[in-house]
Amino acid sequence: MEYSPAPLRYNNQCEYRRCGRSGLRLPILSLGLWHNFGGVDTYETGRDMLRYAFDNGITHFDLANNYGPPPGSAEENFGSIYQKDFKPYRDELIISTKAGYLMWPGPYGEWGSRKYLLSSLDQSLKRMKLEYVDIFYSHRLDPETPLEETMMALDQAVRSGKALYAGISNYPAEQTREAAGILRSLGTPCLIHQPKYSMFERWVENGLLDTVEKEGIGVIAFSPLAQGLLTDRYLNNIPEGSRASKSWGFLKPEQVAPAIAKAKALNDMALQRGQTLAQMAIAWLLKDSRVTSVLIGASSVKQLSDNLQSQKMLYFTSDELKAIEGILKGN
Ligand SMILES: NC(=O)c1ccc[n+]([C@@H]2O[C@H](COP(=O)([O-])OP(=O)(O)OC[C@H]3O[C@@H](n4cnc5c(N)ncnc54)[C@H](OP(=O)(O)O)[C@@H]3O)[C@@H](O)[C@H]2O)c1
Repeated sequence: MEYSPAPLRYNNQCEYRRCGRSGLRLPILSLGLWHNFGGVDTYETGRDMLRYAFDNGITHFDLANNYGPPPGSAEENFGSIYQKDFKPYRDELIISTKAGYLMWPGPYGEWGSRKYLLSSLDQSLKRMKLEYVDIFYSHRLDPETPLEETMMALDQAVRSGKALYAGISNYPAEQTREAAGILRSLGTPCLIHQPKYSMFERWVENGLLDTVEKEGIGVIAFSPLAQGLLTDRYLNNIPEGSRASKSWGFLKPEQVAPAIAKAKALNDMALQRGQTLAQMAIAWLLKDSRVTSVLIGASSVKQLSDNLQSQKMLYFTSDELKAIEGILKGN
């Protein structure tokens, strides 16, 4: 059926936050296409989720060259859905992609060389049938390529018009500071950092959040639900069809059991607050104004809709925050 977006999509369904010291505002919830949009997944479910997201004010879709499986297939599927449903709305969308992980054989198919990054961006644009992406990321720090080379490639991507903004992902605090300095000197400020951040993964609190704040860089937190562990998905078992049950899923079954006791205690707290655990985990990240957006994944419209409701209750009392710390520290 032909898609016409909800006319009231900007009617307070979603809040927008400024991304660092830039002119760009992002929805506080963004949708990532790492899982559930690949060649192994059901195309129509992905399409329904993208439509539902856009209908509810989620203007940002995040991809990477290697998302699938097979690698590249999430961009291909997105490109096909974009052509059918979203092309007239290109100026309302923030579409990002990345390069850094293994994409093709030989010495130029991963990491951070200029050769790899710029070739990969061209490939991504072709797969997505786009003239440009809004954000192009270096997906991970390359310890062997000079940072200047990687940053010059991002700057080149922006200058060529193939990307509007430059971003980095998974960079430690110190290299983030250096990368920001190089990009600034080139005249292409670093827009955004994409780190893993959730109640279960808090490395960013040891320096990175302070660094991005000083540098005026926004933050988009990935895997905010710890791939589903911070939801009610695994409280009783590993259900059929869940990420941990799939051979290609990045959540391994052995990661589930050690998380369950904490997830159950957090789930009880969330219920007391009148929220689902997923909603509370998202709200917990958004309590920090340095977090521009929370980058969720979903396998159904129902999950997306659940997650969007997190916005109804972003506030925490200091007692609630203390109780959460207690659970996370295993007290
Ligand atoms: N830069 C990087 O290196 C990097 C790395 C990883 C991810 N990312 C980005 O971050 C995005 C999100 O990552 P993620 O998918 O790991 O995020 P996540 O939000 O932590 O996990 C998403 C999974 O949680 C489950 N879920 C979501 N909402 C739920 C709900 N309301 N109730 C029950 N279960 C729910 C679903 O699992 P089921 O599938 O089992 O239903 C869903 O697939 C990715 O798509 C990608 O864009 C970036």
